[in-house]
Amino acid sequence: MDVAGRRVLVRADLNVPLSQGEITDDGRIKASLPTIRALSERGARVIVCAHLGRPKGEVKPELSLAPVAERLAELLGRPVRLAADTAGESARAAAAGLADGEVALLENLRFEPGETSKDDAERAAFADRLAGLAELYVGDGFGAVHRKHASVYDVPRRLPHAAGGLVLAEVEVLRRLTEDPARPYAVVLGGAKVSDKLGVIASLLDRVDLLLVGGGMMFTFLAAQGHGTGSSLLEADQIDRCREFLASGKIVLPVDTVVADRFAADADHRVVDVDAIPDGWMGLDIGPRTAALFAERLADARTVFWNGPMGVFEFDAFANGTRVVAEALVKSDALTVVGGGDSAAAVRALGLPEDGFSHISTGGGASLEYLEGKTLPGLSALEA
Ligand code: 3PG
Repeated sequence: MDVAGRRVLVRADLNVPLSQGEITDDGRIKASLPTIRALSERGARVIVCAHLGRPKGEVKPELSLAPVAERLAELLGRPVRLAADTAGESARAAAAGLADGEVALLENLRFEPGETSKDDAERAAFADRLAGLAELYVGDGFGAVHRKHASVYDVPRRLPHAAGGLVLAEVEVLRRLTEDPARPYAVVLGGAKVSDKLGVIASLLDRVDLLLVGGGMMFTFLAAQGHGTGSSLLEADQIDRCREFLASGKIVLPVDTVVADRFAADADHRVVDVDAIPDGWMGLDIGPRTAALFAERLADARTVFWNGPMGVFEFDAFANGTRVVAEALVKSDALTVVGGGDSAAAVRALGLPEDGFSHISTGGGASLEYLEGKTLPGLSALEA
């Protein structure tokens, strides 16, 4: 694209974790820099747009992109003007006021009901306003390409468009996982909810050699094996489905777990076998024998995809499982891909070397849906 002197709307994924207004992991901002910087250096007038959290169409000041604008400016080494709205008067003034190479950021797109609306006409009306701010569109928010949202899906249908470098790099690596991966191919899944991952589990079981399950979702699988799970996370309505998955013979489940008397960093805790979870206690991590078992199984793999922490890694007492799995990936010579905001944040929070992995994806849901073989609205819109 010839971008010099032209207004380019860049859809980025700047959905970073916040704690008391502070950004706790700026990985997604850093991953978005190369495209923004390249456009700015080529003389584009760069209008970045993104979402933060799920404000559901309402203006929620605590979900303002202000801290993100500040961090983006620091990392870019140039000012970033934050518009006070998404596509209103302030956004129009910010876009019109840009000189060549300058960067502005629109306010949280999800303050606008039209961004996420399931009603095509409502989304279209918002997309028209957003598209009106720019002459060109660059889709670079890989973490949001699985969302049929106005800024992801409808705007590129209204403007000449291109994929950004981050989207291209992410798709390139994920494609290697779907087309003839080196075997054994192991997937490690964690995170809280089985129900979010049912589709991907079903499709992965057809493709992978081994599926290691940890995190909160392990307890629904353990219940499917007939174990008591105490007060651990449990999705009772998914137990039958988990039992069907177990019949594949490819799933490796934890043999022990770290249980706690409550959900807190300083909770009383101990390691128990999975058939001895006491009533009233909740499992918050895989146990040490499981961590060693997972590391051993991963040592032979030639392709590994990991999504979802093994435990509540934010609390030291429950971080061991996630750490051991991450270290096993660092040691491995396999193609190792970390998928997801939480797992990527865990890698950084635990101080592991980011270059120890072949690729750390910025997309959690997006990378899973890609592996599941789904059509991703944000990618199909860019291809059109
Ligand atoms: C993510 O955090 O996975 C992306 O930013 C998408 O966010 P969402 O799940 O709220 O759509």
